[in-house]
Order: sequence, then structure tokens, then C-alpha cells
Amino acid sequence: MNILVIGGTGLVGSHVVKGLVAKGEQVHILTRSADKADGFPLGASGIIGDLHKPETLRWAMRGIDRVFLVTPLSPTETEEGLAVVAAANHAGVRHLVYLSIYHVEQAPYIPHFKSKMKIQRALRDSGMAFTVIMANNFFQNDLVYRESILKEGIYPQPIGDIGLNRVDVRDIADAVVATLTQTGHEFHCYPLIGAEVLSGQDVADIYTRTLGREIRYGGNDLDIWGGKATHTLPGWLVQDLKLMYEFFQRQGLRASEADFVLQAKVRCHLPRNFHMFVGETVAAWMPDEHREYAKVG
Ligand SMILES: NC(=O)c1ccc[n+]([C@@H]2O[C@H](COP(=O)([O-])OP(=O)(O)OC[C@H]3O[C@@H](n4cnc5c(N)ncnc54)[C@H](OP(=O)(O)O)[C@@H]3O)[C@@H](O)[C@H]2O)c1
Repeated sequence: MNILVIGGTGLVGSHVVKGLVAKGEQVHILTRSADKADGFPLGASGIIGDLHKPETLRWAMRGIDRVFLVTPLSPTETEEGLAVVAAANHAGVRHLVYLSIYHVEQAPYIPHFKSKMKIQRALRDSGMAFTVIMANNFFQNDLVYRESILKEGIYPQPIGDIGLNRVDVRDIADAVVATLTQTGHEFHCYPLIGAEVLSGQDVADIYTRTLGREIRYGGNDLDIWGGKATHTLPGWLVQDLKLMYEFFQRQGLRASEADFVLQAKVRCHLPRNFHMFVGETVAAWMPDEHREYAKVG
């Protein structure tokens, strides 16, 4: 099967590519950069394309049976997603799997949530078979906080006190691979959620135990978080994410029992747990001091 992965050089998409290649699928990765093609696994090839240039999407979709779509965060995310849906439909793609957000419908005032709702609506209206993967907050978001955790002793992601069923992107990728390679997942939406409810303090405590020294939760003040984030993120994204963290702080993003049952339909194993993720991450950050975790795949 010819499968196009849009976002295949990114966090979730690169794991999806690995999983599809391992199953012997013909994988095509859309990228804006020819340089990245050198790093693609054997069995995957690159297609140069840009979501801002719809004509490149029409070219990329030729001969493609299935598509996995990640829409990157952008002020024009809706237009980019709609362009992919139109190009896939035009090319006769049989099934498109889209990465969205858990409970996206509960906060349509958050710009990147609203974009995803519009893209999901376009998929429903397209007549094409689709699956929506509704993912909770990624464990791997923590990777950008290495300096803050190790040097300042602070866990800064302001996820609040109520808690989220955060999830490992490798579990998301495994579910995406299942939906792309098995039948029966068409026209379904699947939650992708981890087993534990984690508050900001819980996360800080797990880093404290793993590192053997205190890591403090940075707290719920979004102006403080936003002030620091403006050094690395564009202003529109800081505003967007502040709204999202305010939503997380107000009501959390906890999973229901019914959603665990639903998730089991695309899950091939138990969800990875956060303690293990932190162990592996800390071992990768400080390999000499955490050899026992470094062995964990
Ligand atoms: N972080 C979370 O907790 C979380 C939770 C739920 C859902 N999500 C959603 O996950 C998505 C992000 O996934 P991710 O973290 O895996 O992405 P990512 O690592 O940021 O990767 C972005 C990908 O998009 C591609 N890209 C960017 N601009 C492009 C353009 N103009 N044309 C073509 N390709 C372009 C990049 O490819 P090249 O650079 O190679 O061109 C790259 O492969 C967002 O939609 C977010 O809302 C995130």
C-alpha cells in the first residue's frame, strides 16, 4: 500500500513512518526540505511539498492509497488542513487518518482547536473514509524543558492541578499505524490517552524521584509562563497556548472509562507509563548517571 505521511519528519509522524516501514508498507514522506531525505529509514522516500502550495499536494497525492495528516501549528492551520482534504479527495485517496486533540470540541475558542474542528468537519463532508485520532497532551512535550528541569530545577509546563491523561507519542503512532493498516477503523474517532492522571505537581514529583533532587512545579501563572515562552515561540502561538493551558487548569483533560474502552480498539498493548518515559528521558539527558534506564528501549 502507498501511504503518504504529512508531518513525517516531526515528533509523531517520524514514529508513524518507522511503524509503517516495519510492516512493509510503501511510505512516502512529505517534507519541505530535500536535506531531510538522507535521514529517512530504508523503505521510506521523500516527496518535496509544502502545505502552503496546494499544487505540490496534488502532485504528492498521485498513486497514494492512504494518508496520515499532522497539521503543524500555524495561524493558517485550517487552510492547510482543508487543502490536504481537497487534494486527497481529488486524487481518490481511500482513507485519511488525522491527528487531532482529545476533547477538542470542548474549547472551540482556542485557535488551534478551532482549526482542527473545521478540518474534521471537512473530512466528514468529503465523503472520503477517514479516522480521527484525538490525542491528549504528549509526554514528549517535556523534551523542550530539559534546561529548565536540569539547570533551574523547575518543571514549567503549566498544566494545572486537576490533571491530564498525558500520552506517549509512540502509543499514538502505534494506533495510527493500526488504523492505516487494518480495516474497520473508517469513520471512527479514537481517543489516545495515557493510564495516569498527571497534574503539574505530579509531573514535577516524578522528575524529583527520578533525578534524586527536588524539581519544583513552575506554577499556574500564565503571564509568567508566557513571558518566558516569548523568547522561543512566536507571539500568536504564546497567546494560543495560554488559552489552552487556562482550559487545562480550569477543567483538566481527564479520560473517561468509556474512552479507555474505545481506545482499546486501536491499541496493540498497554499505554506506556509516564514514570518509564521520565526514566528513559533522564537517562538520555544524563547517560553516565542513569545507566539502568538507558537500557530501556
Ligand atoms: N503537543 C501535544 O501535546 C499535542 C497533543 C495533541 C495534538 N497535538 C497536535 O499535534 C500536531 C503537531 O504534531 P508534531 O508535534 O508531531 O509536529 P512537529 O514535530 O512540530 O512536526 C511538524 C511537521 O510538519 C511539517 N510541516 C511544517 N510546516 C509545513 C508546511 N508548510 N508544509 C509541509 N509540511 C510542513 C514538518 O515537515 P518539514 O519541516 O520536514 O517540512 C514536520 O514534519 C499539532 O497539530 C498539535 O495540535 C499536539
